[in-house]
Amino acid sequence: MTEQAFAPQRIVVTGGAGFIGSNFVHWVVNNQPGVHVTVLDALTYAGNRQNLAGIPEDRLDFVHGNICDEQLVDQLVSQTDAVVHFAAESHNDNSIADPTPFLQTNVHGTYVLLQACKKYDVRFHHISTDEVYGDLALDDPARFTESTPYNPSSPYSSTKASSDLLVRAWVRTYGVRATISNCSNNYGPYQHVEKFIPRQITNLICGIRPKLYGDGLNVRDWIHTEDHSSAVWCILTKGKVGETYLIGADGERSNIDVLRAILDGMGAGPDDFDWVRDRPGHDRRYAIDSTKLRTELGWQPQHTDFAQGLAQAIAWYRDNEDWWRPAKEATEAKYAAQGQ
Ligand code: NAD
Ligand code: TYD
Repeated sequence: MTEQAFAPQRIVVTGGAGFIGSNFVHWVVNNQPGVHVTVLDALTYAGNRQNLAGIPEDRLDFVHGNICDEQLVDQLVSQTDAVVHFAAESHNDNSIADPTPFLQTNVHGTYVLLQACKKYDVRFHHISTDEVYGDLALDDPARFTESTPYNPSSPYSSTKASSDLLVRAWVRTYGVRATISNCSNNYGPYQHVEKFIPRQITNLICGIRPKLYGDGLNVRDWIHTEDHSSAVWCILTKGKVGETYLIGADGERSNIDVLRAILDGMGAGPDDFDWVRDRPGHDRRYAIDSTKLRTELGWQPQHTDFAQGLAQAIAWYRDNEDWWRPAKEATEAKYAAQGQ
């Protein structure tokens, strides 16, 4: 007998006003006509209500609140079919400067959501990162798989690893119907200017020289946000409870190659950037083997032309200065204070 696909009518999306969460909400509204979305988002420095502009009122409820608020979470989870959990403190450099909010949101917040999903037997999908696996050497032929041992390096990745382990324990001990996905580095519109690609694009627009950490040879495995969103829906509806799925689109690139592509795409010379202080504990290379997701659930990435995706991102930041300008000055001041 083939297993029935799970078909939620109401979903709660935590962190739905952030970069990837908001992309997922738009993806669901555009592709799943019968599904109602409730976003729970604390609107931290990384959340922006504008990211959800244009969604019809009958498709979306926006709740301004914290995933650590047990009463609020209990109430929302009691009225839904599934929780898709994106909310997190998400930036490595911030976690090095102050780990406290990472412990609260990433670890305690996930615990609060799991307790509510246990109480109401609600399906839970946990969004995580490939950074829980630590890093690979540049010349290592291996890529991360679902069975790679956890070995996180930073306060950010260690709190994400902790949250993954909570999910696994709640599945095994309490029978919570949960899945986990670990995705590689995302890029696309609406990404905060603190992150690598938007920081360099907006630096060039502002007349600031781009900043490259260390020797620039660190490798990240880039995936377009749209592909992350389609993968999460696929896992939520077709994934096997208790399983972990890695999400990646075969997009390994060194930081210096990505930066030179941005410089070229914006009419600057290949050396028009500054080398800056390296990140402490900087992971060397991430690489995802997404065979399980592709073969067992039939998912395929659609946005694999990196040059085209990058050109679209550059155009988006050029066309949407009102969106990122308010955050730019404070972000650069914070980096300058860190020597970056
Ligand atoms: P983001 O920082 O852009 O957005 C995070 C969102 O969560 C914001 O809207 C913020 O307001 C909200 N939030 C933070 N703390 C909260 C709290 N306590 N209660 C309620 N809402 C809160 O992050 P992102 O890049 O969109 O990442 C989303 C998820 O995807 C995270 O779990 C992250 O670990 C994971 N992930 C990100 C990447 C990446 O490349 N950005 C890659 C793999 C996995
Ligand atoms: P980032 O976007 O912070 O993602 P992550 O730490 O999750 O991989 O950084 C991507 C890569 O770019 C990482 O190797 C650090 C590097 N980096 C720079 O070289 N310069 C920068 O200004 C930033 C923000 C990152």
